[in-house]
Amino acid sequence: MAKMNKNLSVKIGKIRMKNPVMVASGTFGYGKEYADLIDLKALGAIVTKTITLGPRIGNLTPRIAETASGMLNSIGLENDGVEAFIEEKLPFLRKIGIPVIVSIGAEDIVSFKKLAKRLDRAKGVSGIEVNISCPNLADYKTKKEKQAKLFSQDKRLAYKAIKAVRSATRLTIITKLTPNVTDITEIARAVKDAGSDAVSLVNTYMGMAVDTDTRRPMLGNVIGGLSGPAIKPMALKAVWDVYNSVDIPIIGMGGIMTPDDAIEFIICGSTAIALGTANFVYPDKSIEIIKDLGYYIKSNKLKDIRALRGSLSI
Ligand SMILES: Cc1cc2nc3c(=O)[nH]c(=O)nc-3n(C[C@H](O)[C@H](O)[C@H](O)COP(=O)(O)O)c2cc1C
Repeated sequence: MAKMNKNLSVKIGKIRMKNPVMVASGTFGYGKEYADLIDLKALGAIVTKTITLGPRIGNLTPRIAETASGMLNSIGLENDGVEAFIEEKLPFLRKIGIPVIVSIGAEDIVSFKKLAKRLDRAKGVSGIEVNISCPNLADYKTKKEKQAKLFSQDKRLAYKAIKAVRSATRLTIITKLTPNVTDITEIARAVKDAGSDAVSLVNTYMGMAVDTDTRRPMLGNVIGGLSGPAIKPMALKAVWDVYNSVDIPIIGMGGIMTPDDAIEFIICGSTAIALGTANFVYPDKSIEIIKDLGYYIKSNKLKDIRALRGSLSI
């Protein structure tokens, strides 16, 4: 088991974490899936797979394709809905004894608000990660328009969604942003103004891959989200950009596979970091990173992990 190390503790909104290492939404199920593989208690926090108000069947298969230094996915937020989550998944999660952050997704603002209100009353939820990298289906009329805009691609929509969530809960709100925008800092600023306590950067980069034998897309949904080491330099830049222009805690992610990757994200301004794709390849990588962060702090004679945050020397 990883040793508790006070020097690694961080705070995100009202959530105190004993270390800054989290697992990213959609890559760690609801915790139980990894219970036999790692010591869940050692993690800083768990972010659950995104849930929606009602059940969703998700996208057409295949939903995963391997690419150079990364993977594409188009799961389509398959889940059983919030009530099933509270009844079937939350009891296990709350017993672990670490902060549980529930990721929510919706296609309209009213549903975001209802989800937040429901989770606010649920025992064992420490915070809500609002996955606004979802298409907004309510504010646009034509199908093309609907497909074009995610909440997190429009600062006005992003603001409205978070404002609605804020009005429904006192839990810590973390907003998960898409990197598929021209200027991620203006979206981060909008969600901060709406009351978000922190941002998670980044969700996947949109991409596609083709099977040249069949000339068919590798994914049933044609396009999907790219994750893994291929996106790390771009994700790191998103963190650095937001760190330098918006005063809000950042949970950095995107291609973190090694302790050194995690340290890079913290040096660029992340308060905490999350592992996504790495969980599929090395299920216990998060635990190794927690240990190594402790060694790094000690061997570099830093007071604590906070002394590393944003310490990029230029
Ligand atoms: C298979 C898969 C499923 C994912 N599902 C979700 C999800 O449900 N909600 C969400 O906010 N992000 C989801 N993500 C995005 C990750 O949480 C993370 O932001 C992204 O993969 C970048 O980190 P990584 O390169 O370490 O994987 C998913 C990623 C993968 C690979």
